Amino acid sequence: MSPPLLPGLLLLLSPLLLLSPPALTQFDVCRSLRASEGGAGWERFPCQPPPTNMKEVMQIRVDPPGITCGNPPERFCTLENPYLCSDECDASSPDLSHPPQLMGDRERGGLVTYWQTVTWSRFPEPLLANITLSWNKSLEMVDDVVVTFEYGRPTIMVLEKSTDRGVSWQPYQFYADDCLEAFGMVPKRVADLAPSNITRVICTEQYSQWVGAKEEKLVVFELINMDALWTRMETMQGLREFFSFTNLRLRLLRPALGGTYVQRDNLLKYFYAVSNIDVPARCVCNLHASQCMLRDATLQCDCDHNTSGQDCQRCSQGFESRGWRPGSYLPLPRGTANPSDVPETITKILKHRTHHNTPYALKTSPKPYAPEHNPQQPLSRNLKTPLCMNTSKTPYANPKTHKPLKPKNTPTALENPNTSQNPFDRTPTKFPGT
Ligand SMILES: *[C@@H]1O[C@H](CO)[C@@H](O)[C@H](O)[C@H]1NC(C)=O
Ligand SMILES: *[C@@H]1O[C@H](CO)[C@@H](O)[C@H](O)[C@H]1NC(C)=O
Ligand SMILES: *[C@@H]1O[C@H](CO)[C@@H](O)[C@H](O)[C@H]1NC(C)=O
Ligand SMILES: *[C@@H]1O[C@H](CO)[C@@H](O)[C@H](O)[C@H]1NC(C)=O
Ligand SMILES: *[C@@H]1O[C@H](CO)[C@@H](O)[C@H](O)[C@H]1NC(C)=O
Ligand SMILES: *[C@@H]1O[C@H](CO)[C@@H](O)[C@H](O)[C@H]1NC(C)=O
Repeated sequence: MSPPLLPGLLLLLSPLLLLSPPALTQFDVCRSLRASEGGAGWERFPCQPPPTNMKEVMQIRVDPPGITCGNPPERFCTLENPYLCSDECDASSPDLSHPPQLMGDRERGGLVTYWQTVTWSRFPEPLLANITLSWNKSLEMVDDVVVTFEYGRPTIMVLEKSTDRGVSWQPYQFYADDCLEAFGMVPKRVADLAPSNITRVICTEQYSQWVGAKEEKLVVFELINMDALWTRMETMQGLREFFSFTNLRLRLLRPALGGTYVQRDNLLKYFYAVSNIDVPARCVCNLHASQCMLRDATLQCDCDHNTSGQDCQRCSQGFESRGWRPGSYLPLPRGTANPSDVPETITKILKHRTHHNTPYALKTSPKPYAPEHNPQQPLSRNLKTPLCMNTSKTPYANPKTHKPLKPKNTPTALENPNTSQNPFDRTPTKFPGT
């Protein structure tokens, strides 16, 4: 049984509430910078929006057309009950339809709703489906992406991402019950990765093997080494980019088999069914905003520090004279809006290994993946230049002798001397209702 879809308006309104920070936390007081100008300054950094479950605001698209079950109505059974094919998917019936939106809804009252595909009746032609999730906004992962499959996890799947709104795509992680066979890749676990090779794209067998559909439903993109990583965000070229995305795509390449081979005489038990996709992430605001809002159905950073743009990626009009630059997580623990505070050591770039070194070929696809080459440009920042400012009244007559902006009187009410706190603190990302 599926409940009727929420009206679109409600879907649009709820994220607004979600995206406003529930209470003052360490990082959302940077907005007060404006109010503090000329007076007692309190600055709190890194200045970034709180994590949100981005499933609340994602656009979902499935391909190819006709992949969703129910048009025409179709019978199916399950791997655990393969000879009782009495279930029906019917797109015209609210109770029997399984449209894509059900992957992003909240499961109210414990009622699980899911998107479901047609069955594999065309075997041996592969049963392929793409789920494309779009935000039209740069986001940064803060915790595991978790996909819930109701009737068994795919035996072959690829998670892909785009950082340019779907123009180009790169593989993010490969999933297979046999990585060598499916992709020609040696199976790895994220836990095997050291911080220095965390951006390597791996194939894992951890989430594809059959243990029973009821026992194990989850496919995870893990960020388990994140805590060890955040201090490297500035120094390790490509690290922030690795966790950034504007779109995600699941390429489902072979469904759960419930065994080692496909039973040709019972193809109605093979299909994909996804009930939920959690995407804990935050808006990328280049450390210049503490809030991210929905405006005209598009996520938008609420920029501070004389910056503007969807990602606070440029100086506001009238403040362009010194040139834009992202804020910094350094110095620890607060970071700064103005990276001229940061010692020159950040220019020492650790070379990271990228996925285009990884040999892989998808045997079930005619064309092997060709990930975009990411040019490894060294950071060439002029660290002595302040951020976006109105130079016609700049307080620093000589930028060469300028001193970093420092909070003068930090109000004790807002003071949290918890220097152990981590900008990637994962604790706020456990969302209710998921
Ligand atoms: C899924 O997307 C890829 C591009 O990443 C495309 O080549 C492929 O044909 C799509 N598959 C389906 C089933 O639409
Ligand atoms: C995407 O966001 C931009 C703002 O950066 C906006 O102008 C555009 O209309 C949005 N596109 C869609 C399809 O929502
Ligand atoms: C990552 O680096 C660690 C230690 O340097 C090494 O043991 C591990 O095999 C590497 N993992 C991959 C996938 O290259
Ligand atoms: C910049 O400063 C000048 C002089 O104080 C002022 O007239 C102008 O309005 C300021 N510009 C902005 C964009 O605030
Ligand atoms: C914003 O511009 C004002 C005026 O030029 C300047 O005093 C202030 O330091 C700037 N803010 C930041 C965070 O650089
Ligand atoms: C500091 O952080 C730790 C762990 O996150 C927490 O247990 C502790 O209560 C915090 N202390 C303060 C003063 O916020």
